[in-house]
Amino acid sequence: MQAVATYMAVSFSGPIFSKMGIVGKDLHKKDSSEIPEAMGLVAGLVLLAFLPRDSTLFLTLVGLWIGALDDILDIRWRYKLLFSALAYLFLMAEKNTSVNLFGHLIDLHLFYHVYMILWCIWCGNAINIYAGINGIEVGQTLVIAVGLLFFTEATDALISYIFVAGALLIHNWYPASVFVGDSWCYLSGMFFVAVARHETEQLAIIMWPQVLNTLISIPELTGYKECPRHRMPKYDSKTDTLYHSGKGTLINIILWALGPMHEKKLCQLLLAMQVSGIGLAFLI
Ligand code: UD1
Ligand code: MG
Repeated sequence: MQAVATYMAVSFSGPIFSKMGIVGKDLHKKDSSEIPEAMGLVAGLVLLAFLPRDSTLFLTLVGLWIGALDDILDIRWRYKLLFSALAYLFLMAEKNTSVNLFGHLIDLHLFYHVYMILWCIWCGNAINIYAGINGIEVGQTLVIAVGLLFFTEATDALISYIFVAGALLIHNWYPASVFVGDSWCYLSGMFFVAVARHETEQLAIIMWPQVLNTLISIPELTGYKECPRHRMPKYDSKTDTLYHSGKGTLINIILWALGPMHEKKLCQLLLAMQVSGIGLAFLI
């Protein structure tokens, strides 16, 4: 039901978004064709309709708003950080301030709130900067959600999310017919924090590629090194492959180590790495 609704809503809204000028250039294609952007907004609205009316819904809604504003108005980083932190207000009522770390229940007391605010800020941003090739934005979130099924109790919400993400991935898979936009990235980040709550250790392990990518990105994100608008790999139209652009991202490092790769194959490899995170979360 969720999948059919999402698939149809995106098929229907794509041309409308294009008409409104909400489009993006597919930079890793020969003709850099323009396709609808911000489809996460449409998929997100479908998801919200299926979520139980609790704090998870509110947090996801704030994520969707931040992403949608970013897609449409390109809001500044400082506002995104501020709004992400404010989203935590919906989880503030939480009385249980302990987290499960390495098999031990540790009560963080007041620090728990600081810790969770940092998660609210990091999670969506980490997904948004591990991006730039067809299928990776929504593909990574689909794998993370499947992983969380094993470690949290929010099964109904996760299943709705998985169906919505799956349908969106069909549209975004190489060669993409739509982009999911920042709306999908920020919505997903908030949703994962709301779902994981006291199981953030497992979430962090499943998200090891995003953790690594964030660490590699620090020099450019902090302005220590030049940070251009796009840090994605470069496209070689002669061989139809991607190669590293020298910018500090995990994707570039992989391409540097393994050599040029086709966009679809690269996405499959990145998703396989993400799946390994689920296995790792079981081991640790
Ligand atoms: C983030 C990254 C940026 C990366 C971009 C790509 C940081 C700090 N920012 O920026 O380096 O280049 O995501 O998503 O790391 N696009 C494609 N193919 C895709 C996906 C996106 O060509 O498969 C292009 C399209 O032109 C699309 C645009 O990227 O319109 C979307 O970029 P956007 O999500 O707005 O970039 P940011 O999130 O600001
Ligand atoms: Mg983005």
